[in-house]
Amino acid sequence: MLSTRMNQRIRWFAAYGATFLCAMSLARLVAAETGTDAWLRYSPLTPQAAQSYQRLPRETVMLGDSSVLRTAQQELSRGIVQMLGSTLRVEASSSREPAIILGTVTELHAAAPHLHPPQDLRADGYWLKSAKLHGSKSLIVAAATERGVLYGVFALLSKIARAEALDGIDEVEQPSAPIRWVNQWDNLDGRVERGYGGPSIFFAEGNVRADLTRAGQYARLLASIGVNGCTINNVNAAPGILEDSFIAQVARIADVFRPWGVQLSLSVDLSSPKVMGGLDTFDPLDPRVGDWWRKKVDEIYKHIPDFGGFVVKADSEGRLGPSTYGRTPADAANAIARALKPHGGVVFYRAFVYNHHLDWHNLKNDRAKAAYDNFHPLDGSFDDNVIIQIKNGPIDFQVREPVSPLFAGLRRTNEAIELQITQEYTGQQRQLCFLAPMWKEVLDFDMRVDGKAAPVKNLVAGRVFHRPTGGFVGVANVGMDPTWIGSPLAMANLYSFGRLAWDPNLSAEKIIDEWTRLTFGSDPLVVKTITSMQLSSWHVYENYTGPLGVGTLTNITGNHYDPGPQSSEENGWGQWHRADHQGIGMDRTVATGTGFVGQYPPQVQKLYELLADCPDNLLLFFHHVPYTHVLHSGETVVQHFYDSHYDGVEQARDFVAQWQSLEGHIDAERYRDILPRFEYQATQAVVWRDAICNWIYQLSGIPDDKARVGKPASQADPSK
Ligand code: GCU
Repeated sequence: MLSTRMNQRIRWFAAYGATFLCAMSLARLVAAETGTDAWLRYSPLTPQAAQSYQRLPRETVMLGDSSVLRTAQQELSRGIVQMLGSTLRVEASSSREPAIILGTVTELHAAAPHLHPPQDLRADGYWLKSAKLHGSKSLIVAAATERGVLYGVFALLSKIARAEALDGIDEVEQPSAPIRWVNQWDNLDGRVERGYGGPSIFFAEGNVRADLTRAGQYARLLASIGVNGCTINNVNAAPGILEDSFIAQVARIADVFRPWGVQLSLSVDLSSPKVMGGLDTFDPLDPRVGDWWRKKVDEIYKHIPDFGGFVVKADSEGRLGPSTYGRTPADAANAIARALKPHGGVVFYRAFVYNHHLDWHNLKNDRAKAAYDNFHPLDGSFDDNVIIQIKNGPIDFQVREPVSPLFAGLRRTNEAIELQITQEYTGQQRQLCFLAPMWKEVLDFDMRVDGKAAPVKNLVAGRVFHRPTGGFVGVANVGMDPTWIGSPLAMANLYSFGRLAWDPNLSAEKIIDEWTRLTFGSDPLVVKTITSMQLSSWHVYENYTGPLGVGTLTNITGNHYDPGPQSSEENGWGQWHRADHQGIGMDRTVATGTGFVGQYPPQVQKLYELLADCPDNLLLFFHHVPYTHVLHSGETVVQHFYDSHYDGVEQARDFVAQWQSLEGHIDAERYRDILPRFEYQATQAVVWRDAICNWIYQLSGIPDDKARVGKPASQADPSK
């Protein structure tokens, strides 16, 4: 629904504006205000900021020709006209005029060898260089691949949008890893599993949508942050996706991705050869099954020559898998990988394999151990085009978890980290929870492999064990909502995922500063306020939903959103916190617990094994302690629960005030759209606080030192 103000504007333009604006720019205005452009708004620069680009060439030259290169050139023209108001001339070859030159390093070398373009650019890396060509000052965007040129153009436009100087620029940017993908959990009927941004942009009522405009716009957003692949359907895959008639439909999505350099891939059901392929088995070691996959893959490549590959979720949460035939994940992954290999495709085999009917009575059982137990013994037996896709933590995208020990447990196998952009357990986009600070902690975490530095970011990029491929996968789950993901501020998570996949050494502060300037402009108050709100939001959410590493204390058998700490216990899902009248937390130590700690390299084990060493923020993930246990902070566990929940509420309330300080500094449209979201979040924080504090009090019987919990209602302060 368009706002009244937007409707008024549209009417005004319709009546009087025809001579000023063509239909295209009106459509763009609507799109920009409703959010589809996200961080690619290209708002006009202030006259002062625009001045520094007076000498920017007004001509572009493409050294080659391809659909990606043409996209790069069109994007450049679009950005320059919107931000600087000037139209770029497009020339086929360089003249004596200053120009922005777009091309691969090979093409540049042929055209201007004296510029010595860097020869060691990795795929998708680019070079931005201000240089003299034919006596005129030109700007070069050169790259190893055409896709890299597109990335270079987006980087250039981002700099202009943030008023960064381009004079004398000489910058080489390389991606940290080849795999930078998003997964969409879209069902063919149009629903998106764990999606909070409306129906699927790809599917409706069992078919690929007739109008794929949004899919193309999504590919543009992904390309702008360096994401080069997208799996379009739910990991809980419907076998029908592989019907020949459906593949022809899916090819239309690949067509709208291609100009943006985004490869398409599919999640597949491992039982497909049997359930839709006409065989009486899906045993990966049966030659008929291998043959079935080969023919199916050949068929796909006929329709989609740049097809990326498959994502597999098997033997997990009720999905069939190789265990049906006593086979291993390696048997299954390799059978499919061999079909993809001749075409250059890959298999992402998810390490999210666990038994969700674990016996909760057995204190030695531990779901956290499953990924390592299942995959570590298979290290070295996966083909080179298999990538093990590992969730950042050993449970399931909780508000805080330690990193998965499996990252250090695969030395001879490719791996990718799976991060969740959609906030399934962290407020579902209805509450602010900026995840880059969490992801940074995970990526920077040093696994100390063989006593040497081995941060997770280097392990997944394949640097530590010299693997041919690896990288980053983000579960995005955007939808038809104009804000894509369900909230304009949550888009910072999608932006950050791409930026960190490209360069995990970027700080969360730098990324959110970029995003805020691109999305809301560079008013200092706006930048300061929004960046600080975003940067604090994960801790705020953690404070009132799941402190001390206890896990998100949500309703795990229901919506994963409301408080529901009891739902974790007494069932087979294994998201246990073991809270009872005596104490709380999972004992995962080697000495007395489940032994999970033993899956880490020795130096990391030392961090967690002893209560005395374990950091407070993960205490209850690793240890079962009495409520009176004293933390490193000096507080007792129970008092920490009360305090963090009351602090969390105050912090959430303060978000409202902080946002209100921006009235008049950002457009009224977005100001008014976002304010009620913070007001709602403040009320939800109270719901959480009261539910969790009362639960802890009921269990422990220990009242709050500050008399907010556990005292007669008559004495309660009504203002709280
Ligand atoms: C979570 C999520 C499921 C999803 C699963 C997965 O458990 O709730 O919807 O299917 O993760 O990652 O496979």
